[in-house]
Amino acid sequence: MVEPWWKRSVVYQVYPRSFMDASGDGIGDLQGIISKLDYIEKLGVDVIWLSPIYDSPNDDNGYDIRNYMAIMKEFGTMEDFEQLIDEAKQRGIRIVMDLVVNHTSDEHTWFVESRSSKDSTYRDYYIWREGEEENPPNNWSSIFSGSAWEKDNTTNSYYLHLFSKKQPDLNWEHEPLRHEIFDTMKFWLDKGIGGFRMDVINFISKNEQLPDGMIHPEQMFGDGSPYFINGPKIHTYLREMNEKVLSKYDVITVGEMPGASTEDAQIYTDPINQEVNMIFTFEHMNLDSGPYEKWDIQPLNLVALKRNLEKWQHALHQVGWNSLYWNNHDQPRIVSRFGDDDKYREVSAKMLAICLHMLQGTPYIYQGEELGMTNVKFDTIDDYRDIETLNMYKEKRQKGIAHVEIMASIYAKGRDNARTPMQWSSDGGFTAGTPWIQMNPNTSNINAEQALADHSSIFYTYQKLIHLRKESDILTNGSFQLLIPDHPHLFVYKRQSEEEEWIIVTNFSAHKEQLECELCGVQNSNGKIIIANYETPNINGDIIEVRPYEAFVLAFERGK
Ligand code: NOJ
Repeated sequence: MVEPWWKRSVVYQVYPRSFMDASGDGIGDLQGIISKLDYIEKLGVDVIWLSPIYDSPNDDNGYDIRNYMAIMKEFGTMEDFEQLIDEAKQRGIRIVMDLVVNHTSDEHTWFVESRSSKDSTYRDYYIWREGEEENPPNNWSSIFSGSAWEKDNTTNSYYLHLFSKKQPDLNWEHEPLRHEIFDTMKFWLDKGIGGFRMDVINFISKNEQLPDGMIHPEQMFGDGSPYFINGPKIHTYLREMNEKVLSKYDVITVGEMPGASTEDAQIYTDPINQEVNMIFTFEHMNLDSGPYEKWDIQPLNLVALKRNLEKWQHALHQVGWNSLYWNNHDQPRIVSRFGDDDKYREVSAKMLAICLHMLQGTPYIYQGEELGMTNVKFDTIDDYRDIETLNMYKEKRQKGIAHVEIMASIYAKGRDNARTPMQWSSDGGFTAGTPWIQMNPNTSNINAEQALADHSSIFYTYQKLIHLRKESDILTNGSFQLLIPDHPHLFVYKRQSEEEEWIIVTNFSAHKEQLECELCGVQNSNGKIIIANYETPNINGDIIEVRPYEAFVLAFERGK
């Protein structure tokens, strides 16, 4: 079987609003992205995933789409988009679009029509239910706080919105809706895009009974997720989408799938099933949260992280395919989260990169990750823009929770941590105007200009990792074995192919750690260093002294 091209790809995610503003209105745009293609090419990736660029009123920064076939005005025009595909192609880079089809904006004409009358042709495009006065059809909470139902006065019925009330959920049961979505996909594929990242795609099939969910401690609403995550017809819908659309193009597909287990992922990504190439799991991203909400900050337990990644590596090896990520537009910055964004910023950012990119799967890099961009701490809630953050703040204040306590959660987990503008130069370099969200003040010493000029910067570690991914068969196909699984600070694993063996050693702590060579099969010194974030590792006899946040990869030929 021919190996699919995306198994050696590395994807770079661009959040257009915050990447580069060419027009000077403070909002990133397509011409801005085009102006930075050389930068992305230099990094070495071959795919760019664009967060949504469709026409949108921006209640959720483009994840609320008003028109699937038009470009958001602030971002530019269809000509700009075609130019982007073209110029990217000249550099060997494919453009992947975000497919947001669990919901639309309430300003989409389908919804405007749908809400206008119970007899509208578009009524069944959305999920409408009758409810009693002030009593919604069920107790589900919205992921963005409050009830998942909104009463609409025109027809006196409730519509479902798992996200904000300006993001009504589409009704996938309704065949004409599915056909409209498939036509939209073809429209973009025919323009030459390289695939889709599918927004919360495992939410599209709801249990038709819409039963009440459990109410967890300290929550006001019920948890409906068992009734909409990996719902009854999800595999049918994905196979239909594949058969009618995707199978006709050579593209990459990745489904964002909160709540998908490894068993689910095996079904979604096994090529036999013709669904998607890979999924985004959330399990490793939920390990530093309490059981019921991400705002409940918990320290990272490295053993749990290792065990979790091990589980995913084994489950999909030679079955399906993994995606690998630490960051995206919904997650805080990884160097602030699992690394050290102060004294060991550079070294810990490189360690995290090495740790992730040596795994099996397709790595995703989020803009600024290659610079070691960090979380931000704005003084007041007024400086935040993210609807999830703002709704949560309001809800918790109403419950009497102290401002400082809520801010601590926002500093650790808020999505705006990822959405401050890309740091191009010491004075920002993102816009000539006023940015829609403030820059992180540390742009003065963390920025692309400096990173490019310093050959030992984090940028070049990523560049090297991307290069390795392209040329190393062991990374694409080799097996994975977790070593010293119970060590609380060292994450050590082995990749193995018929010809060679790579040992990946990473230290997640700010202290020196001792590693016994014998425990990880490093019994001789003839290993070759593939990549490292310090000068040569300290191998002294049988012990390796692993320095704070150190990472290195040793390669051995097998049988030697
Ligand atoms: C997941 C997206 O990544 C996130 O940014 C968005 O708010 C929700 N889905 C709703 O579309």
